[in-house]
Amino acid sequence: MNELKWWQKTNVYQVYPKSFLDTTGSGTGDIKGITAKLDYLKTLGVGAVWLTPVYPSPMVDNGYDIADFTAIDPSYGTMEDMENLIAEGKRRGIRMVMDLVYNHSSDKHPWFIDSATSRDSEHADWYIWRDAKPDGSAPTNWRSIFGGSAWTWCEARQQYYLHTFAAAQPDLNWENPAVRQALYDAANFWLDKGVGGFRIDAIVYIKKPEVFVDGEPDSDDGMVNIHSMIANTPGILDFLYEFKEQVFAGHDIFTVAEANGVEPHELDKWVGEKGAFDMLFEFSHMNLEFPNGELWSHATGYTPEIIPELKKVLSASQHATADNGWYPAFFENHDQMRCVEHYFPAEADKKLAAKAMAAVLMTLRGTPFIYQGQELGLGNTAWENIEDYNDISSHGQYELALAEGKSPAEAMTIVHRYSRDNARTPMQWTRGKNAGFSAGVPWLPVHEDYACQCVESEALAEDSVLSWYRQLSALRQSGEAAGVLQQGDYTELLADNPAIMAFRRRFGCRLVYTLVNFSGQRQTYELPELEEARLLSGSISGSQQGSLRPYEAVIYIKETGERL
Ligand code: NOJ
Repeated sequence: MNELKWWQKTNVYQVYPKSFLDTTGSGTGDIKGITAKLDYLKTLGVGAVWLTPVYPSPMVDNGYDIADFTAIDPSYGTMEDMENLIAEGKRRGIRMVMDLVYNHSSDKHPWFIDSATSRDSEHADWYIWRDAKPDGSAPTNWRSIFGGSAWTWCEARQQYYLHTFAAAQPDLNWENPAVRQALYDAANFWLDKGVGGFRIDAIVYIKKPEVFVDGEPDSDDGMVNIHSMIANTPGILDFLYEFKEQVFAGHDIFTVAEANGVEPHELDKWVGEKGAFDMLFEFSHMNLEFPNGELWSHATGYTPEIIPELKKVLSASQHATADNGWYPAFFENHDQMRCVEHYFPAEADKKLAAKAMAAVLMTLRGTPFIYQGQELGLGNTAWENIEDYNDISSHGQYELALAEGKSPAEAMTIVHRYSRDNARTPMQWTRGKNAGFSAGVPWLPVHEDYACQCVESEALAEDSVLSWYRQLSALRQSGEAAGVLQQGDYTELLADNPAIMAFRRRFGCRLVYTLVNFSGQRQTYELPELEEARLLSGSISGSQQGSLRPYEAVIYIKETGERL
């Protein structure tokens, strides 16, 4: 293998700025708050920070509705604060990674405001406009990802515009070269500021089909999820290669694209030297509870059968990226529930569950992405009323569940599990007021039990989730296992075991083994090749070969004597 690049050897940490640290008492986090915590991030082996959008935004979708692609929202600070963050990060070997949200803009972006004024305006063709059906209804029966029609009527133009997400997020028309150029210019603006990479949002939707047709309804509302109608439309790669050439190529940065639905066999076109990006976030391991599409009300919830599936899809992703591109390992982000709830039964010991997921995350082949609070083992939240939720998709999916005949209580149970607010509660720093997040009134409630689960408490406890992350990060980045964990190949072990996830990493004469028990029962296993191996780390003290206690994770190392 060629020499690894800097971003293949480091850990990436995802910051949700609104919930990270508030330095002004406004109740929402800010850029100065991120700068203040760079030294903390260093203790987690972090070399890059992915910031979810900090651009000016009406915040209908918390920053994913952007009104200016090359400025900073005043609630987060100033451009000078951003430049300072980039510089302070660089001093510590931490690069900033910006979120490029290029499928859509805010409806308050000057481009859209102009586009919506008339069919002859300067930006008339910058968005996706279509005439109504003869009866005046929307051009197609597509449902937006947040619920409700994907089309909104515009009086001035007497036309509908398309929005894959909220009505406040009109889709940009990538067929128009002027649109593409404006977007590339904005990304180059951030490269000139010295950022270390980009996470590219919702990229699978940028290319629309030539003809728009109704789809087979997938719910009682008579609509079909837009994802199944427009994702990965042929021709998309032409746009993406141009994007790479005009922006990313030749820079010492990384790109990771959010690409729900790209199949492993297509990967070589999407990632790697010849592909459009360095890495792809694919969601096969996040969508296990949604075998029939992504409606929350149709999800299966947790069942133990999820674990064999999880093993299967993770292995498939490891194999798919063995020769093509590089794997971005992640189990959480700002759109997902907390992983301690995701892959474990409700009664599971959350601390052990968090450590188990950390062991997998930090020893798979790829770059680990840690989402803020994951390193503390934070769990989901469950507020009583739908009005308590800020997340726009929680509201849309709640309404849809009611329309399907679910009771309000049933609809709330669904929201409790899948709401994106689960991951967006304020970061827990101290045992003090509001967990040290804000001196004001936090925009979302802080978890009640923050006194035990906060950086201040966990940093002091040797057996905390935070200490385990720090230990695993040290294993990955220095010492005898580092070479294997960074470069070694991957082989699944105990593939038929329904409760234990086990895999071997190998590099030169050295082998590293990870074994995790996802069940609440003690599990025994037979793995003769482990006999001469030595325990490197265990999530509970007193590990014994051949058996794993409930939710236990262990990591072994072994020398083979021969180069394999
Ligand atoms: C994916 C982002 O991760 C999510 O938070 C956002 O709502 C949508 N894309 C729309 O931009």
